[in-house]
Amino acid sequence: MALYSDKVMDHFTNPRNVGKIEDADGVGEVGNAVCGDIMKIYLKIENDIIVDVKFNTFGCGSAIASSSMATELIKGKPLSQALELTNKAVAEALDGLPAHKMHCSVLAEEAIRAAIKDYYDRHGIEYDKSKFPDPAEEEHKADED
Ligand code: FES
Repeated sequence: MALYSDKVMDHFTNPRNVGKIEDADGVGEVGNAVCGDIMKIYLKIENDIIVDVKFNTFGCGSAIASSSMATELIKGKPLSQALELTNKAVAEALDGLPAHKMHCSVLAEEAIRAAIKDYYDRHGIEYDKSKFPDPAEEEHKADED
């Protein structure tokens, strides 16, 4: 079996929603200290709905495919649903990632959370802090997977 699914290859070679939103309502940037890859997500939010999302990922093919798929999964969705998106769901939507590449999908989950947190912070919106764990700890957890 090929190492990467057709969907991973498709989203890697033809990533959706690449770029930057100049007047974004929330921006999240996360990185993995081990591989050095960085992912940045921009959100445009109206009435709690993600009306637009773009990403810039300086990283491996799995990170690019994960960002692309994650943006597709949260576009047009309420923030509450975007917050529930897990890296496993992103990997499943890509028809799987090799075990040693699962940490790449973690970046997508974290970047979305960071962007939503940024939106809440900028707008003085109260939120449940327990839903926003420190990415550094998550990163550590992912490395142990
Ligand atoms: Fe760094 Fe994939 S190897 S995110």
